[in-house]
Amino acid sequence: MEMLGIDIGGSGIKGAPVDLDSGEFTRERLRVDTPHPAEPEPVAEVVARIVEHFGWTGPVGATYPGVVVDGVTRTAANVSGKWIGLDAAELFSEAAGNPVTLLNDADAAGIAEMRLGAGKGETTGTVVMLTLGTGIGSALFTRGVLVPNTEFGHLELHGHDAESRASAKAREDHDLTWEKWAKRLSHYMAHLEGLISPSLIIVGGGVSRKHDKFLPLIEDVRAPIVPAALLNTAGIVGAAMAAAEAHGSGA
Ligand code: BGC
Repeated sequence: MEMLGIDIGGSGIKGAPVDLDSGEFTRERLRVDTPHPAEPEPVAEVVARIVEHFGWTGPVGATYPGVVVDGVTRTAANVSGKWIGLDAAELFSEAAGNPVTLLNDADAAGIAEMRLGAGKGETTGTVVMLTLGTGIGSALFTRGVLVPNTEFGHLELHGHDAESRASAKAREDHDLTWEKWAKRLSHYMAHLEGLISPSLIIVGGGVSRKHDKFLPLIEDVRAPIVPAALLNTAGIVGAAMAAAEAHGSGA
C-alpha cells in the first residue's frame, strides 16, 4: 500500500509517495524551499503544491517541527509563533483538498526507524530516537509504542536549553570540534539516560551520516547508541505511516 508523506523542515519541504511495506519512495521525491518567514499560510500552499504535483487523492501524512496534539500545533521553537494554537491539520487539509494527519517531525522519524530502520525488532524495552539538526527532536517508544511529543531537546543542560548547546546547529554556530560537541552530547545523553533508562538510543538528523566522527567519542552512557538507518527519508516515511494508521490501514 502507498501513502503520501511530507516532511516540513526549516530549509526544505519534501514529499513523496511511500510504499509502506518497504519504506521506498514510489516516485521521485519533490523538494520545495521552505517559504520565509515559515508562516502557516505559505507553508500550507507548499503542502498543497506537493499533493497536486503527485496528483494525490486520499489521506496524507505531514510532519511539523514542534508539539502537535490532535492536529493543533502547540509550540514553535524554531518557526514562526503564528503556529501556536493553530489547527494546522485542518489548514493543510483544506489547502490540499485531502485529509492531512500531522505529527511531530522526530516522532515521524522515530516511527519509521522503529518499523524499518535501526529500531526494527526492538519490541520489549524503551527506545529513544534523537534527531540532531537545527534543534534536538525526540521520539520515545516503550514496547514499540510511541509516547508522542516528548520534547527532550528542551531538557535543561547546565542551565541552558539543551538544544541550544548540543544540536547540530549549535556545533556549527559555536564552531565546536567533534570532541567538544561529543562531550556536550555525552552530558546530554547521560542526563536523559538518568531520567528514562533507555535500552537503545538511535541518533538521527543529517549529521548522523557522519556518526563515525562523534558517536565513538560519547562517554558515560550505558545504553547502546546507534545511528539512524533511514537518514533523510525517515520523516517522509514516518509521516506516511502515521497517516495510514490514522485511517485504519497501517502497514
Ligand atoms: C522542537 C521539537 C522538534 C525538534 C526537531 C525542537 O526545537 O521543539 O518539537 O521535534 O526541534 O525539529
